[in-house]
Amino acid sequence: MGIIDEVKQKIDIVEVIGEHTTLTKAGRTYRALCPFHSEKHPSFFVYPEQQSWHCFGACNTGGDIFSFVMKRDNTSFGDALRLLAERAGVKIPSQFEPQTGKDERERLYQVNEAAARYFHNLLLNSPAAERARNYVLSRGFSSKTVADFQLGFSPNSWESLKQYLLEKGYTENELLTAGLIIEADDKKTHDRFRNRLMFSIRDSRGRITGFGARVLDDSLPKYVNSPQTPLFDKSSILYGIDLAAAAIRQQDMAVIVEGYMDVITAHQNGFKNVVAAMGTSVTDRQVSMLKRLTGNVALALDADAAGEEATLRSIGYENILGAEVKVIIMPAGKDPDDVIRDDTRTWQHLLDEAPPIIDFTFDTATAKVDLNTARGKSLAVDKLLPIIAEIKNPVRQAHYLQKLAHLVKVSEQTIETALGKIKLHRTGRNLKESKREAVTSAVKPLVSSPIEEYCLALLLQYPELKDSTGELLLDYFGNSENREIFIGLKEADDLPSLKEKLDRIIHDHLDYLATKSLPPTGETERRHILSNCVLRLREEFLHNLETKREQLFALEAESGGTAAELTKLQELGTEGAVQLREVFQSKGQRHSGAKGVRK
Ligand code: UTP
Ligand code: MN
Repeated sequence: MGIIDEVKQKIDIVEVIGEHTTLTKAGRTYRALCPFHSEKHPSFFVYPEQQSWHCFGACNTGGDIFSFVMKRDNTSFGDALRLLAERAGVKIPSQFEPQTGKDERERLYQVNEAAARYFHNLLLNSPAAERARNYVLSRGFSSKTVADFQLGFSPNSWESLKQYLLEKGYTENELLTAGLIIEADDKKTHDRFRNRLMFSIRDSRGRITGFGARVLDDSLPKYVNSPQTPLFDKSSILYGIDLAAAAIRQQDMAVIVEGYMDVITAHQNGFKNVVAAMGTSVTDRQVSMLKRLTGNVALALDADAAGEEATLRSIGYENILGAEVKVIIMPAGKDPDDVIRDDTRTWQHLLDEAPPIIDFTFDTATAKVDLNTARGKSLAVDKLLPIIAEIKNPVRQAHYLQKLAHLVKVSEQTIETALGKIKLHRTGRNLKESKREAVTSAVKPLVSSPIEEYCLALLLQYPELKDSTGELLLDYFGNSENREIFIGLKEADDLPSLKEKLDRIIHDHLDYLATKSLPPTGETERRHILSNCVLRLREEFLHNLETKREQLFALEAESGGTAAELTKLQELGTEGAVQLREVFQSKGQRHSGAKGVRK
């Protein structure tokens, strides 16, 4: 299986899109407010069976998971694929490393590196950094720690970093892209980080992707971080990973804390398997990154956060890791930095005693209810059963099922039946539907559409056909990799120059199409086959759109849409129907035309 297929197979479009907009199940589809344009009435749909999406509103477009991410991040196919591959835990072989943009990224790493050295040097040597040095001392950081983490100081000035880096030969544009300077309303730019203690944020390979910056007093905001840049993506950062990776591997265990300070203090005190998730809640991507090093992860959380975290999301982490996630509950009002500095033994004790996050959830869910009453029992079951339903590992699921049955003193059978109902409810309204879903997910589009491929193979192998593709629209291609090739084909003169234009990750697919064996034909017949392919693609496209509109119409009518909305939809539908009729008509003509030739 190729990488593109493997990623498609492992990623669920509903899950990915569900992270950006609230999806509501509507029949066999999901419906939401479009994440790409602002609207009051939801016109954005996700189709799990086809693993596709469509916005019937202002966007009037749709596609697959790759086109969604491309649009969302305003990025290329290759980058979207890499992002999703990472999420799916699919490793991309190094020969597919991006070529284009590589130099640009390299420059961004370099400019970050230069900035980090600048900040670090100032912290160590500048008279202006006196206060910052005192602050570092007050936090108890040793000079080795300052060096290991390359802490720094950003001076209280609007342009000093900018001037310094411009003199070093970096462009203003590069500084903007790296997030080191900001463009103000008047288009003038100035340093982003001023008068702050600087934290260099590195990836697992030790390259600096961005910065965190803390005030030296109690003013707000406490931290300023790099914005989203080509190198810096908050959801995939694990602060300290470069220094922690070896220890995580060795101890076969990773601890995730909340902040920069927690990581630094932990490391200085010998707890080197500690990384931070940038203050926000942990993401699947961060967990997937850790999974390369260990299956055992513990989250250090305060009791409130733990209560929230211990929801379905943490079961998601467990399913990614294939192991249970533990939770280190911090004493009220303290973070790991406080605890470790207070007494490392307390921290060690908390580590040793860390319960699996599900057990912790059991405790909190049952602490406040009276399990001797029917009401208390059902409250506990309502809270815990949906969590148990998410556990993929059957043995672990059975374990918690038993635990729950025991707690509420109800037979296991009863709990199991209730669990069955939840599962059924999730997979579909009735058995028939859940069966259909099982079937469709098994055949989840592995190969891209055969006609799309046939069409492209013809064009690749017989470039002279390119002049007769006027009627072939980009929209007819549902698969992002086919779209990429089609776009490239229009611009490129030959296969080598097409290859150059395309991300290396699509080269396999391109080679496959360029060498796909086609029946031997004469030129006229080939043109005929091609135009038939185009027609069929058009037909498929319109038919697909039509079906989606019908579904939408049915839903609107059901939920009492306004007359104006329904009319608009109906008009859209007629438009599609007219076009579809055109297709059938021209097909008919061709058919009789072909007969005529044979006569
Ligand atoms: P905390 O407020 O707990 O800060 O935020 P801290 O790390 O304990 O810092 P000290 O000990 O008060 O100096 C935890 C993490 O949340 C992110 C940072 O990554 C921080 O380390 N954060 C917090 C921000 O990004 N911005 C903020 O304004 C606050
Ligand atoms: Mn703190």
